[in-house]
Amino acid sequence: MNTHNGTLSVRVTRIEQLTPEIKRFTLNDPQGKHLPAFSGGSHVVVVLEEGEKTYRNAYSLMSSPYDSSAYQIAVRRVDTGRGGSRLLHDQVREGALLQILQPANLFPLAKHARQHLFIAGGVGITPVYSQLEELQLKQATFELHLAVRGPEHTALGLELKARYGEKVHLYVQGQAARMDIRGILAARPLGSHVYVCGPDSMIDDTLDSAHALGWTDSHIHYERFVEQGSTGQPFSVTLARQGVTIEVPAEQSLLEAAEQAGYQVPYLCRGGACGYCETEVLEVEGELDHRDDWLSEEDKLGKRKFMPCVSRANCSRLVVDL
Ligand code: FES
Repeated sequence: MNTHNGTLSVRVTRIEQLTPEIKRFTLNDPQGKHLPAFSGGSHVVVVLEEGEKTYRNAYSLMSSPYDSSAYQIAVRRVDTGRGGSRLLHDQVREGALLQILQPANLFPLAKHARQHLFIAGGVGITPVYSQLEELQLKQATFELHLAVRGPEHTALGLELKARYGEKVHLYVQGQAARMDIRGILAARPLGSHVYVCGPDSMIDDTLDSAHALGWTDSHIHYERFVEQGSTGQPFSVTLARQGVTIEVPAEQSLLEAAEQAGYQVPYLCRGGACGYCETEVLEVEGELDHRDDWLSEEDKLGKRKFMPCVSRANCSRLVVDL
């Protein structure tokens, strides 16, 4: 396998424009070898260079976990984002080489579920793709409810409907009745699990409905769209283990600034959701600007923990255990 600095080199062998905003990229090993295995719900981080800048963006794997001859990712173009998706849409052509990191899974299937219910909105369908493929091969019971904004956004939903038939329920805004989340969750057999990925309002509705119907948290799984990285006021931070002080510029997170300076910081989601980058604060004079969904309110007020992938600081002195 072709590896460089812990990344894998893959060749873009196909690009499909699926909706006005979404392109799907098929990635193969340049020598035609198999790529690392993964489980349903996994993602890879794509590392892109543009001049001095490095973007590291996470995308769900949409291909089958049982076929490691190729990976597929879908990328929604976000013009207001920091640039990674724009670069993939505008600069990357079939035949190009990309660097990616090994797959990781922050949204795995529940192994012992009797029934799997999926609720997704828009590009939130992408992590579900590989999960459905895994369940189909295991002959498990599942159902998908997918809402999209209009007929021009139905390509992925229609593809899944062609694969899985009546297990897929597609709700096209303006064409069909709205998705009734409470109705979907009502009267399900014991041992059912629900997975939701989409806009915050859809996730919140699902959580509220499930709780009102008596579902337990262990049977509710969700993946929020996370903004990766952060921007704001520049700040200085001392990395105690390295014995250096680095500047975090306005358009980078501490994680990105440390990487650019050549230091490795552990991460998975890069969006304040997974907890993987949690770092101890050793000294602080000033305020921490916590932007993650991981730390508890108590931890945030305690000023002893910090998530370098998204959080920032307004401090005269900040020393962290990195
Ligand atoms: S990398 Fe996931 S919370 Fe920072």
